[in-house]
Amino acid sequence: MKMTDAEIYDARKQFFNDSAGKWIDMWYRDPETGEQKKHEKDFNRLFALMPLAPGHCVLDAGCGTGVLVPYILDAIGDQGTLYELDFAENMIDLNRSLHPMKNIRFLLSDVEHAPIEEASCDIAVCFSCFPHFQDKGQAIGALARILKASGILIIAHFDSSDGINHHHKSCHAVMHDHLPDEAVMRTMIADAGFDIESFIDEKGFYYIQARKK
Ligand SMILES: C[S@@+](CC[C@H](N)C(=O)[O-])C[C@H]1O[C@@H](n2cnc3c(N)ncnc32)[C@H](O)[C@@H]1O
Repeated sequence: MKMTDAEIYDARKQFFNDSAGKWIDMWYRDPETGEQKKHEKDFNRLFALMPLAPGHCVLDAGCGTGVLVPYILDAIGDQGTLYELDFAENMIDLNRSLHPMKNIRFLLSDVEHAPIEEASCDIAVCFSCFPHFQDKGQAIGALARILKASGILIIAHFDSSDGINHHHKSCHAVMHDHLPDEAVMRTMIADAGFDIESFIDEKGFYYIQARKK
């Protein structure tokens, strides 16, 4: 029987809550060294592209356990502010316990209703999470609202769109979660009031950078 949108949403949230405790080992720990450096080269590439600067206010939407936190804090420094936002309470709880830094604000919320002041952020990043957002147009609209004029939206993955969509199909809880093709992404982002500055979709790396008008 076909699942309703509400059932799809609940199954997805349950999956991420159930996965929180094993998330870092599953995706980021190098099994040989035990260090959290499996994607070090990819993170270096991502953060070389992202125009972060000291003092920036940044939203890490769909943050999970906070794998981006050390990289973002390194770039924005003590004067910057970082919002770690996720709709799964187990992800946020673990993230909070791992990152006690004073300039992080933890938000348990859907990105579509991010409780952040209008025009207050310099950068909003959706890393490895955009396909999971239930209403993608509404999510981009919410991110446009909280970004300052000329603020930057980043959507990134360490896989191509084909690779991501193939991977999600094989996992029951997120089998409905799809990264739209380039034309649809471009239209959705432009319609929300952004100019697209970069669109990379290649084996092992996906990166969109867009600037709010
Ligand atoms: C694949 S995980 C990636 C987590 C983290 N960015 C990382 O790379 O380790 C996707 C994350 O998005 C979160 N998520 C999914 N839909 C969301 C929504 N509508 N609003 C906020 N967070 C959401 C999930 O709870 C999960 O933590």
